[in-house]
Amino acid sequence: MMNTWNRRDVLMAGAALGALPGLTMADKTQAMLTKPIPASGEALPVIGLGTYNVFDVDSTPDQIATRKDIVEQLVSAGGNLLDTSPMYNRSEKVIGDVIDAGIDREDLFLATKVWTDGRDAGISQMKQSADLMRTNSVDLMQVHNLRDTAVHMKSIQELQEAGQIRYSGLTHYTAGAQAALGREMQAFKPQFIQINYSLGEREAERNVLPLAEELGIAVLINRPFQSGRLFSAVSGKELPDFSRDFAESWGQFFLKFIISHPAVTCAIPATSKPHHMADNLGAGFGELPDAAMRQRMAEFFESL
Ligand SMILES: NC(=O)c1ccc[n+]([C@@H]2O[C@H](COP(=O)([O-])OP(=O)(O)OC[C@H]3O[C@@H](n4cnc5c(N)ncnc54)[C@H](OP(=O)(O)O)[C@@H]3O)[C@@H](O)[C@H]2O)c1
Repeated sequence: MMNTWNRRDVLMAGAALGALPGLTMADKTQAMLTKPIPASGEALPVIGLGTYNVFDVDSTPDQIATRKDIVEQLVSAGGNLLDTSPMYNRSEKVIGDVIDAGIDREDLFLATKVWTDGRDAGISQMKQSADLMRTNSVDLMQVHNLRDTAVHMKSIQELQEAGQIRYSGLTHYTAGAQAALGREMQAFKPQFIQINYSLGEREAERNVLPLAEELGIAVLINRPFQSGRLFSAVSGKELPDFSRDFAESWGQFFLKFIISHPAVTCAIPATSKPHHMADNLGAGFGELPDAAMRQRMAEFFESL
């Protein structure tokens, strides 16, 4: 799971190539940490990109150039996962525009969602998502917020058999829905779940994360910064000395806490800024905190 390059090596190599800041020039031989998708064994890089709000923009040349820069950084650092939804307005189209602008679709793991009621509406929405992202096959199709799960899981399975979807998933973004999510994990056996989990929202540790491990379900983490709120909580505060070996920023501190949980496969922080993408990607390299260090991180955060 660990590779031989640590984050500092990559930053130095990038700097030597004149690529500042961060990981812009990290090439594909310096792959980020990965974890296996239990259903297949496929290696998934631990840092992806969320697109809620941040990809909901007009497709002007400037806006697309910025999103292309962000996605290029993800791919250059060895990442691949983009998470979107028809609920995120223009985001799926913007992903398609970024691919049209020169990102190789084969370098991406495209995750979207179905968010409607009924079989026909669901199938038509899933096909529209693929069209908007200019792809024949979607890597991961998730039932958004458990909406009409039984109906859509059946359609997703049919589309998997037809080669149009690779993996199935269920998502939610609140701790209050995790009991229902647990029941649906048992009933429908998705290959992925996507849930909220961060230093500010640790409820998933109790039931959902252990259940995902037990059932062999990959786990994506949404709202890893509590939609930005975690940065406000540490505003003006220094990183603790004990984290200096594995985190160079608060963003990396928050993300390393998440991806070091054994049940977590990949975190999907959202950003509209290339330098924040470079920062977040740094969390995909180097040492991961062990259980004792994770406890220390949580206690430190609670003490703020
Ligand atoms: N399934 C669901 O129900 C559900 C619900 C919510 C979200 N999601 C998914 O999860 C993704 C992530 O969740 P989220 O969008 O709610 O929020 P998030 O990733 O927790 O936080 C995003 C915020 O953090 C800021 N940020 C990102 N990197 C930063 C850095 N290195 N330093 C400082 N600030 C930074 C961003 O601002 P800048 O733009 O300025 O960087 C943005 O305001 C979504 O985009 C979506 O794909 C799914």
